[in-house]
Order: sequence, then C-alpha cells, then structure tokens
Amino acid sequence: MNYIAAPDRYSRMEYARCGRSGLKLPRVSLGLWHNFGHEAPYCNARDMLLTAFDLGVTCFDLANNYGAPFNGSAEETLGRVLKEELRPYRDELIITTKAGYGMWDGPYGDFGSRKYLMASLDQSLKRLGLDYVDIFYHHRPDPETPLEETMQALADIVHQGKALYVGVSNYPAELTAKAAELLKGMGVPLTIHQPRYNMLDRWIEDGLCDVLLEKGIGAAVFSPLAQGRLTDRYLHGIPADSRAASSSPFLRKEMLTEQLLDKVSRLNDIARGRGETMAQLALAWVLENPAVTSVIIGASRPEQIRENVETVQKHVPLSEQEKSLIRSIITEEKI
Ligand SMILES: NC(=O)c1ccc[n+]([C@@H]2O[C@H](COP(=O)([O-])OP(=O)(O)OC[C@H]3O[C@@H](n4cnc5c(N)ncnc54)[C@H](OP(=O)(O)O)[C@@H]3O)[C@@H](O)[C@H]2O)c1
Repeated sequence: MNYIAAPDRYSRMEYARCGRSGLKLPRVSLGLWHNFGHEAPYCNARDMLLTAFDLGVTCFDLANNYGAPFNGSAEETLGRVLKEELRPYRDELIITTKAGYGMWDGPYGDFGSRKYLMASLDQSLKRLGLDYVDIFYHHRPDPETPLEETMQALADIVHQGKALYVGVSNYPAELTAKAAELLKGMGVPLTIHQPRYNMLDRWIEDGLCDVLLEKGIGAAVFSPLAQGRLTDRYLHGIPADSRAASSSPFLRKEMLTEQLLDKVSRLNDIARGRGETMAQLALAWVLENPAVTSVIIGASRPEQIRENVETVQKHVPLSEQEKSLIRSIITEEKI
C-alpha cells in the first residue's frame, strides 16, 4: 500500500456530464481489453492504471470477457490493483463492466437473457472484489431475447444496488431509443451508450448521435485510435511489440493497407503542423463530436496514456479549414 495518488490529478483532466445524468466522466477513460489479462506483465498493467489515475483518468472500462489466457483475467488484475493500491480511492473511481458476448459454455453464458446478465455480474463483482460497479452495460444486442427482458434485468441490477448506472453497447439507433423508453418505464434511465467511433468508423453519425442527444444519453466511445492505426505506430513498418504483430485476432496485418497508411501519413502531417501527435489529433477529432462524453483508449505502456491525456490539455479546437481537410482525407473511398 505504498501508492499515493498525485495531488494535482484533477487539474490535468476535464470532466464532461454524461448525457443528462448527474454523472461526470473524464474526457479520456482507460479500457482494459488488451494488455491487462494474466498474459501481460502485472507490473506494467498496474503502472498503466496508476499513471492514468494520477492524470485524472477516473474511469476504467472492463467486460466479463476481457483478458487472456482466460476471460475475466483483466477484471482480476484490476481487482488486485484495487485491493493493493487503489482501495482508498474507490469513491473517486468509475468502474464499468459488461456482459453480452460468449463467456461460458451452455445456453446461459452468452447474449442477453436475465439469467446470463445476473450471473455474469455476480462473477464480475467477485473477480473485482467489489460490492457494486458504477456502470453495467449490455455488451451487444441479442436478436432472440425480448428487449424487455434484457432491460428489466438492467433495471433490477440498479434496484439491487449492484450497479449505479446502466448502459448499452453496440446497439443501433432505433434499438437504443426503444431500450431508453423501456428503461424509463421501469424508473431507471439509460445513462450511457458505448459504440465504436473513430475517423475510420463513423457509423454513429448516421442516426445514433441524434438519438443520444435527444434522449440525454451519454457516449463513451471505444477504439478511438482504431486500435492503433490512427497513431504514428505503423507509419514505418510493424513494430514487434505492437497489437498488429501480436496474436490478437482483432487487428491483423492485412488491415494496415497502403491506402490506409497513406491517409494516416497525411493526417499525421496535419497533426504535426498543429504541434500535436497523430494520436492526439485522432482523439481530439472524436471529442469534438457533441454527442461524445469520453473516449475509451487502450494502451500498452504508460507513455501512451500520458500522450493521449495530453490531448485534453493542449488541444486547440480544429478550424473549419482543418475540419474540411480532414473530412476530405477520411472520406476518400473505402480502406
Ligand atoms: N464495447 C465494445 O464492444 C468494445 C470493443 C472494443 C473495445 N472496447 C473498449 O475500448 C477500449 C479501447 O479499445 P482499443 O484498445 O481498441 O482502443 P484504441 O485506443 O483505439 O487502441 C489502443 C491501442 O492503440 C495503440 N496506442 C494507444 N495510444 C497510442 C499512442 N499515443 N501512440 C501510439 N500507439 C498508441 C496501442 O497499441 P499497441 O498495443 O500496439 O501499443 C493501444 O493498445 C478497450 O480496452 C475496451 O475497454 C469496447
């Protein structure tokens, strides 16, 4: 228990209201999808979490299935850091988790039944060593389970005190609106949505942002750096310690096309001209969308977190000319 949080941590970050709720989120949150399971060195995971908290990153994003070599190992890592270092700061933290993807064998370990959500959250709480999480998400739509059942489970989870707020992830616009209406009828607001959003994937601009703004739902958007593609990481080859070089099935080498790298190189020139890094420009661009409350970054080392949080401190809003130049680069035909 040697860790003492940086006294100036709250001067390094901005906090934004999550939709029309009372909850404020840091503009940069940290996700534990990659590099926080038991396959990764514990010291590096701990250092990343403590670095983030020292920079005012109060929100750590998890899901039941994060981590390797087994699902849930990222929750165990955070559970250990909470126990050994961050316990005195529990009330300064927003810990989130989710259920919705395949977690255990049989018909009750996947998708969106009440049975799955209730059991999964209990398991997550054990791994984290917590009595409650701050936000519990349904991770993806379930085409078979009635939406009423999934939303009732979320509402009951709030009523039981096992989560303070609930959200949905990867839900399209119309389903999000329905979910929000159902939850409202159950006396629980749909506080937050977690969609993917970055310069290369702008699907939320096609309807979802309008729903979020109209209904007062916040958005914590994931993969704002397109898993590292929207940084300078791959501009001079594929580093051996990068996600693209790893066994992660989510970012394969073939996704780093010549056309993509050409775009990123031109975006990188714009960033450099502004005195920013490519990662900072990519994050700032996402944060300028008024529907976005927070970007959930991933990281493999503390320096990336420092660089990414610096975006909030130094970013000067993009001019109309810069926005249109960026738009013309990112909307060139598909990558
Ligand atoms: N709800 C969902 O369905 C869903 C899905 C996916 C993710 N998420 C959440 O979103 C979080 C973030 O996702 P993500 O990891 O794809 O986010 P990301 O921020 O787009 O990508 C993170 C990766 O980019 C590289 N990177 C980060 N900062 C960098 C910098 N300053 N310079 C160079 N490279 C940098 C690192 O790659 P290297 O490892 O190569 O260094 C890092 O692992 C996840 O942890 C999870 O919490 C949610």
